[in-house]
Amino acid sequence: MAGLNVKPIFLLSTIIFGLWVLHASAELQRFEHPSKTDGSLSFLVVGDWGRRGAYNQSEVAFQMGKVGEKLDIDFVISTGDNFYDNGLTDQHDTAFEESFTNIYTAKSLQKQWYSILGNHDYRGDALAQLSPVLRQIDNRWLCLRSFIVDSELVEILFVDTSPFVEEYFSDPGEHRYDWRDILPRESYVNKLLKDVELVLKESTAKWKIVVGHHAIRSVGHHGDTLELMKLLLPILQENNVDFYMNGHDHCLEHIRDTQSPIQFLTSGAGSKAWKGDFKMGNKGGLIFFYDGQGFMSVQLTQTDANIEFYDVSGKVLHRLITSKQLHSSM
Ligand SMILES: *[C@@H]1O[C@H](CO)[C@@H](O)[C@H](O)[C@H]1NC(C)=O
Ligand SMILES: [Zn+2]
Repeated sequence: MAGLNVKPIFLLSTIIFGLWVLHASAELQRFEHPSKTDGSLSFLVVGDWGRRGAYNQSEVAFQMGKVGEKLDIDFVISTGDNFYDNGLTDQHDTAFEESFTNIYTAKSLQKQWYSILGNHDYRGDALAQLSPVLRQIDNRWLCLRSFIVDSELVEILFVDTSPFVEEYFSDPGEHRYDWRDILPRESYVNKLLKDVELVLKESTAKWKIVVGHHAIRSVGHHGDTLELMKLLLPILQENNVDFYMNGHDHCLEHIRDTQSPIQFLTSGAGSKAWKGDFKMGNKGGLIFFYDGQGFMSVQLTQTDANIEFYDVSGKVLHRLITSKQLHSSM
C-alpha cells in the first residue's frame, strides 16, 4: 500500500522536471490560434506567389477568396517564396503591398497569414520579411523562420528549410543569400532539428502538421530534397506527423510516404507554374501531381482531415480524406 502513496509524488516530480527541461530548451515561438466553437478548423495553403498579380497570381487569389468564404477559413498558410524574384529589398519595399496587400483582397482572406521564408526570400533582405514593420503596414502578415501555431486540435510546426540545402552554400552560382543569423550553418540546422524533435515529442494535439518551403518528396522540377529526407524525415516518422506541407516546386502534389503514414503535400502553385516540368525519377507513393496554378484547402475535425487541391478556376482537382479513431492514445 505504501507504494501507492509514493508513486504519485515520484510521478509528479518527474513531470515537473520533464516540463522544466522541455521549456528550458524549446525556443520556438508559439502562437495560440483557437479552433472554431464546434472544435473544427480550416485554412488555405498557398506557396510561391509574389509577382504583383502576374502569372495568374490574381486569379488564384480570387479563387482563394471564394473557397475561403465557403470554408469559413481561420487563417492562411504561405509555404514561402513570398516575393519574386529576390525577396524584399528592405522593410519599405512596395512589393509587399503590390504582391500581398493589393492581391489577396477578398473578405475571407482578411485573416491571419502564417508565412515562412523560401530560398527566393533569402536572396533579398530576409530580415525585412520578419520585421514587425510589415505587420504595421498589413496586420495579417506574420513571417518567422521557425515557429508553432497551436490550436489544440492541431499543432502546426513551421520549419526554416533553406539552411538545410547544401547547394545554396557550396554552389550559389550568381545568387547571393542573406544568411545573417544562420551561420554557422551546421549549428543552426542541428539546433533546429533538436527543437523540432522536442516540439513534436511534447505535442498532445490530435493532428501534427509540419510546414517547410522545400519538399521532402516531390516529382516536380526540384525533386526530393535529400538533406530533408536524411535529417528531417526520420524525426517526423518517429513522432506521428500526419502531413508535411511545402512549396518550392510550382505545382500541386500528393505523395504518400512508403514507410510511415505521413502524406507529403505540395502547394507551390500560387503564380508562375512550370507546365510539363517534372522528374521521372523517384515516383514511389505518388498519388496526385498537377503542373498548373492553384492552391490547397485543409479542414480538420477531431476525427477527419479533408484536404482539397484547386486549379486557377477553382475546380477541385484532388481530394484527400483521412480519418482517425475517436479515442486518443494519450
Ligand atoms: C492563366 O490561366 C489560364 C487558365 O488556366 C491559362 O490559360 C493561362 O495560360 C494562364 N496564364 C499564365 C500567364 O500563366
Ligand atoms: Zn523555392
